Amino acid sequence: MFLRTHNCNELAAETVGETVSLCGWVNSIRDLGGLVFIDLRDREGITQLFIDPTERAELMPSIREIHEEYVICIQGEVCARPNNMVNPDRATGQIEVNVGELSILNRAKPMPFHLEDPAVSEDLRLKYRYLDMRRSGILDNLRLRHRLTKIVRDNLDGDGFVEVETPILSKSTPEGARDYLVPSRVHPGSFYALPQAPQQYKQLLMVGGLERYFQIARCFRDEDLRADRQPEFTQIDIEMSFVDVDDVIAVVENMLQAVMKDIAKLEVQLPFPRLTYAEAMDRFGSDKPDMRFDMELTTLNDCLADTEFRVFRSVIDSGGLVKAICAKGLATASRKQIDGWTDTAKLFGAKGLAWAKLQDGAATGGISKFLDEGQLAAIKQATGAQDGDLLLIVADKPRIVHAALGRLRMDIAKLLDIIPEDMFNFLWVVDFPLLDYDEEAERYVAVHHPFTRPHAEDLDKLSTAPGEVRAKAYDIVMNGVELGGGSIRIHEPDLQQSMFSALGIEPEEAQLRFGHLLEALSYGAPPHGGVALGLDRFVMLLAGAPSIRDVIAFPKTTKASCLMTDSPSTVDEEQLQELSIASTATAEDIDES
Ligand code: AMO
Ligand code: AMP
Repeated sequence: MFLRTHNCNELAAETVGETVSLCGWVNSIRDLGGLVFIDLRDREGITQLFIDPTERAELMPSIREIHEEYVICIQGEVCARPNNMVNPDRATGQIEVNVGELSILNRAKPMPFHLEDPAVSEDLRLKYRYLDMRRSGILDNLRLRHRLTKIVRDNLDGDGFVEVETPILSKSTPEGARDYLVPSRVHPGSFYALPQAPQQYKQLLMVGGLERYFQIARCFRDEDLRADRQPEFTQIDIEMSFVDVDDVIAVVENMLQAVMKDIAKLEVQLPFPRLTYAEAMDRFGSDKPDMRFDMELTTLNDCLADTEFRVFRSVIDSGGLVKAICAKGLATASRKQIDGWTDTAKLFGAKGLAWAKLQDGAATGGISKFLDEGQLAAIKQATGAQDGDLLLIVADKPRIVHAALGRLRMDIAKLLDIIPEDMFNFLWVVDFPLLDYDEEAERYVAVHHPFTRPHAEDLDKLSTAPGEVRAKAYDIVMNGVELGGGSIRIHEPDLQQSMFSALGIEPEEAQLRFGHLLEALSYGAPPHGGVALGLDRFVMLLAGAPSIRDVIAFPKTTKASCLMTDSPSTVDEEQLQELSIASTATAEDIDES
């Protein structure tokens, strides 16, 4: 075996005449009668090799054995390709290597699927993740992720941040999902929780005087999964002492600027725009608006003040909202399309979707017969709608109107193909509400988490009008994706106690769950705050990948399983006994999962 002298992306015209050694996988092998051609692949690229059977008869027994994905090592001479054989799409397209010696380092069974076939199911690819990696761009994503993490580390280090690891076997911190629990053998009946985030630990580090903390932190959340959610994921987790909102935002903006400069070769302008939560909901129907395009929501209550259309009348009279989006050029929409959008609106609780098409200066179809001339003129003025456009209108409580229209805005923008793909748009959404009323649980829940600081001027509303209290909380949004979120924290034990009461957590329970934090706050905790950015989501956006599964080496499915290792899996009865636990799952449950 010969040591590798070059990688498979390196050999250019200047190296012609050199003797080189290469190692890698057989990407393809073609026997063209006169000559055998092998495309040799390593992580950097592909080099074409050729073997002349008349000159190298001694190699032919090995060559005949070789199939795709065999691992080989060769030594040979770099030759210029004949002019008509130059491949301009390949870095090594000007040369080929005349193989003098070859050894097979390892054999490969036939692949379970064709690595480049786009029709192969994701499940099969996940089962053979290590094979899928070889050709589907995953390695590029992993290298991008490495690069991003390195820039983040260097940037935060330059800003005086200290990287600290916090426990994985820990106590539950509520971040809105279920915990993954780990039974303790030593303490029968007791459980650790895997951290949903290092939230409490990083606050305790501030009490300890660290002042500037960060961690590339693994988090675990048992929640419903989708393209941008995994049960375990990674955060760029940050906490700082003696700061307010603007300081945390500045640190993140600097870091993002450095990342964009290095990775996307873009000079992003600072500061990023900020929208209040109220404004984001009002204009875009979303707390993570994609501002790469317009199509803002327009309130029609004033235009329709004298409406006699039953649906709008009752909503306006009961203090609700009537809002519209104007879908440019979509007066051509079919009944079926409109029914589809109506179903989408209903998914978000809307009772229906009112619509009208604009043609020849008038409104037609849908609810147009309920619009008189004055109302139509006012609506056109407010929405900017013109002939050829379609108005989609929802009337309901603000929450429902915003959710439904916010989603339709995205669906229609995708349909109209008006979202610029190569643009990166950052913005901050600030002043989130502190609390949200959970109708099912019949109590308030924290919008961010229970350690988030209320605005000082709203403090007196904490007991009188909890829903109106604004939080010193902020989200960083990139291209309509919530990239990160954070807040200034409560650092006084009394205020923390009032927050727990507002959340309906009794003092005894607060003591049991958060006693350590309340205690720590009582020994001179500095004012502090922080943020966490989803690393996987960031890499996904930079890589232009459709799912965070594409940027995680070994991701789980949307059912939270790993098809490659077949986990989670059942364990021996003995193992359970040792942990003092018994499973109540029936054989049927196990079969179904
Ligand atoms: P939060 O819960 O908003 O805040 O999480 C911060 C960011 O983490 C990412 N994220 C996820 N990524 C992939 N899969 C998931 N299941 C998932 N859940 C969250 C998102 C999100 O914006 N401790 C606070 C931060 C703080 O207050 O400092 C926290 O965890 O990109
Ligand atoms: P109806 O009289 O209930 O059949 O409704 C007439 C039209 O108004 C239909 O197109 C419904 O989809 C629509 N509609 C009903 N309720 C609402 C609502 N809350 N917001 C917007 N449109 C609605």
